[in-house]
Amino acid sequence: MVSPPRLLLCGDVFGRLSQLFKRVSSVNKSAGPFDVLFCVGQFFPDSPDRLDEFMDYVEGRSQIPLPTYFIGDYGLGAAKVLSAASRNHGNAGFKMDGLKICENLYWLKGSGKFKLHVAYLSGRQSVEGPQFGTYSNDDVDALRALAEEPGVVDILLTNEWPSGITNIVTTDVPEGMSESLGSDSIVAELVVEIKPRYHIAGTRGVFYAREPYANVDAVHVTRFLGLAPVGNKDKQKFIHAISPTPASLMSSSEISMKPSNTTLSPYTYLEKNTDAKESGKRNSDSNSESQYWRYDVSQKRHKSGVGDGDKLCFKFLSSGSCPRGEKCNFRHDIEAKEQYRRGVCFDFLNKGKCERGPDCNFKHSLQGEGDQQRSSRSRECWFCLSSPSVESHLIVSVGGNYYCALPKGPLVPDHVLIIPIEHLPNTLSLSQEYETELKRFQNSIRMYQKKQKKEVVFFEWVSKRGTHANLQAIPIPSSRANALQRIFSLAAEKLGFKFTTVKSDDSAGGREKLRTQFDNRHSLFYVELPDGTLLFHEAADNEAFPSQFGREVVAGLLNIADRADWRNCALSKEEETKMAGEFNARFEEFDPNK
Ligand SMILES: *[C@@H]1O[C@H](CO)[C@@H](O)[C@H](O)[C@H]1NC(C)=O
Ligand SMILES: *[C@@H]1O[C@H](CO)[C@@H](O)[C@H](O)[C@H]1NC(C)=O
Repeated sequence: MVSPPRLLLCGDVFGRLSQLFKRVSSVNKSAGPFDVLFCVGQFFPDSPDRLDEFMDYVEGRSQIPLPTYFIGDYGLGAAKVLSAASRNHGNAGFKMDGLKICENLYWLKGSGKFKLHVAYLSGRQSVEGPQFGTYSNDDVDALRALAEEPGVVDILLTNEWPSGITNIVTTDVPEGMSESLGSDSIVAELVVEIKPRYHIAGTRGVFYAREPYANVDAVHVTRFLGLAPVGNKDKQKFIHAISPTPASLMSSSEISMKPSNTTLSPYTYLEKNTDAKESGKRNSDSNSESQYWRYDVSQKRHKSGVGDGDKLCFKFLSSGSCPRGEKCNFRHDIEAKEQYRRGVCFDFLNKGKCERGPDCNFKHSLQGEGDQQRSSRSRECWFCLSSPSVESHLIVSVGGNYYCALPKGPLVPDHVLIIPIEHLPNTLSLSQEYETELKRFQNSIRMYQKKQKKEVVFFEWVSKRGTHANLQAIPIPSSRANALQRIFSLAAEKLGFKFTTVKSDDSAGGREKLRTQFDNRHSLFYVELPDGTLLFHEAADNEAFPSQFGREVVAGLLNIADRADWRNCALSKEEETKMAGEFNARFEEFDPNK
């Protein structure tokens, strides 16, 4: 197993980079080596006499010894340095892993999340409109959308402390801290939703390690750490090392471990706004199975009066679906989603104008589907065998009408896709010839998995928008196969629908029966269980069905919620080629086309 990343955390730097890196170097000697440094609180100088020293680093006369990320994008020189970085060609586009300022120095702009599951919100709350050093509503929304993705966020970086963090502690709180100063209630709301395992903040001038607190609706605790400024006179601690094992690699008992000094959540007052019915519901399904699947989106979202249905849902636009479905307070607009896909700016679509001006890399006019774009559609399709974009190194077997390929970012080893060679929208409405070949592929995958003591679950999302069909095949340990139907039903319940069950019997399998019923007029999700039973759901026209539903549920069942998003599982081309080669060697004796 890869060893956990070793991180250094630091409070307000105020431009004192020499002093900071001197300390880093000594900590590195005694407790290192460290992989990366994250800085919270003001990063830029607050007095002109520090500017020269600071610019020596930014302009390359002094070296930054390890990758350093900051979110405190305010102070002297910030506007100049940051607007230059924004204009830098290499920084074009939407970057969640930081804009490069100079060698080893990265600005975490806006809000986002790393692979490492470090989420951040840069800047402070804005008093007088957007400028460097403040975050926008969109940054907050984007973070909320990220928070709803499956998986536990390991670390959250904010500049300001969350309001209320010192509530209900039993140990001493640092002296002289007035709650109102340098505390941000939006940060508090975000932490309640994101539930990071570590929350790091600066700006209050003191070091404070709060006792861990338990989260509502999550098994893990959160540790809050406030860091003092670099070189502060009181010799308060400004640098702190942690090396947390990513939640994605922890067992469920490890992640639910609660130290004896764990307190209740200091934010329970924020929960009061949710109505009793909801909390009742949550309690009733807090059995162990419901933890398999974390579609438990926060209903607390947008309670501060923002919930007008006029605004667009960022989640829906950016990912194509929103797990809140009809309950979402924001508009699920298919036209806007299409525009967003064509590169139009979210602010422009949402508010009619974008305040980022020339800094924004998105388009500020509605985009028609030009002829050029239309013809490029199949050229860009990953699944069209005739398309130059097809990932041919992932293909493992080619038949007459179907081929088999490994997915990019497989959920588990031996995750396979069965894909029509032509650009066809689903596998249900094709001729018997297609069906026979598909069955042959399914059977050989089943036989192959039987040999590994595994069962196979198949599922397909048939979108009315007519993307290239793909039937997913995922191996499940035999011991978990019985739980599939229950978990899928539970997940459906959480999204507010019930599956129709089609049992396999002597006359026909579930799949044949569904084929005779399917009218091609609706979007549809179905899953074929190892015993041939089929569960399906027809999505209503206005229903925003999560296109990754099947994968997310199976990820939950296998306790690997972090892998639900394929982008978290992406491999290099070399690794993919190797994976396909190894699969081929094992699968060969079952391959119907060999
Ligand atoms: C930390 O120590 C390692 C050797 O243990 C060294 O290679 C590395 O350059 C040091 N990094 C910093 C930031 O001092
Ligand atoms: C809480 O308890 C753990 C040990 O169980 C200890 O390491 C930690 O320092 C304590 N934290 C605080 C803030 O008291």
